[in-house]
Amino acid sequence: MAQIGMDLNRFILEEERSHPKATGSLSLALTALTSAARIISSHVRMAGLADILGSTKNINIQGEEVQKLDVLSNNILIQHLSDSGQFFALASEELDEPVFPEKGKNGKYTIAFDPLDGSSNINVNVSIGTIFSIHKKVKGNIQDILQEGRKQVAAGYIVYGSSTMLVYSTGNGVNGFTLDPSVGLFLLSHPRMELPERGKIYSINEANYSKWDKKLKSYVDSLKEKNSSARYIGSMVADIHRTLIKGGIFCYPADLKNKNGKLRLLYEVAPMSFLIEQAGGKATTGSKDTLSIKPESIHQRAPVFLGSKSNVEELLTFLKK
Ligand code: AHG
Ligand code: MN
Ligand code: MN
Repeated sequence: MAQIGMDLNRFILEEERSHPKATGSLSLALTALTSAARIISSHVRMAGLADILGSTKNINIQGEEVQKLDVLSNNILIQHLSDSGQFFALASEELDEPVFPEKGKNGKYTIAFDPLDGSSNINVNVSIGTIFSIHKKVKGNIQDILQEGRKQVAAGYIVYGSSTMLVYSTGNGVNGFTLDPSVGLFLLSHPRMELPERGKIYSINEANYSKWDKKLKSYVDSLKEKNSSARYIGSMVADIHRTLIKGGIFCYPADLKNKNGKLRLLYEVAPMSFLIEQAGGKATTGSKDTLSIKPESIHQRAPVFLGSKSNVEELLTFLKK
């Protein structure tokens, strides 16, 4: 059993040793990822001083204004993941098309990532993050990126909050590591994270209330009659991190304007759903498990309701009425 304070590198190696057929490739992949995360973290902490706050005045494929930190984080991840040689293909929120790194020709994995999640919060010093989803290479083509979430080999996030934390799973539970900036090491701080069976916090952008369908409206209205608390940070990573620790439910539903919701399946909904399920929770589009969706395109969106099993099951009773 891993002890609190264990260094991430040792944790990764111990996990590798527990898989007799492991070749060490996933360990190298995760190590490259966490090196990039440490560098992004140091830039995030300095963003207010360096000229990396603000917008690049460019609009990305999502139709959103690209922040300088989005670009910087994306470049750092592309460089470290490509150099690791472990990834056949990389898909990023910030790139229209996937990248097939020269050094990754024999890589065993593909990775999809959101280099900087919660961009609208960068300039107001509110928690932001990086989200990643790793799949095995199967056919050696773009289809290896478009696999359903249940097949993920690893998924997780780094949250740049009051401290920098890495939370991830390789399918054997969820563990949280806190960065000790004085030594630059991620140390195990939250072993085997498990969602409370039920939580009183609901997290949804109520500014969209008028665009929701009436069943969702009646669900949210019912919460106001109960002992509930509303929390909405606007960075998915921060809202999910709180949900993992305190329980409750996070929702980004479809609405009249966004027929498939706003969040992207490959590098937001699927990795977070994987973590929530691994921590004993539930993740649904409202009509099916988010992890069962077969993606058709890299940037496709999906509605998502996820969190404590009891909270999600209560929501589903309203949606099925
Ligand atoms: P990103 O900054 O990577 O584009 O992601 C922002 C997402 C997600 O972090 C958050 O849950 C959601 O946008 C908030 O959207 P609204 O502002 O529409 O509520
Ligand atoms: Mn995002
Ligand atoms: Mn982003």
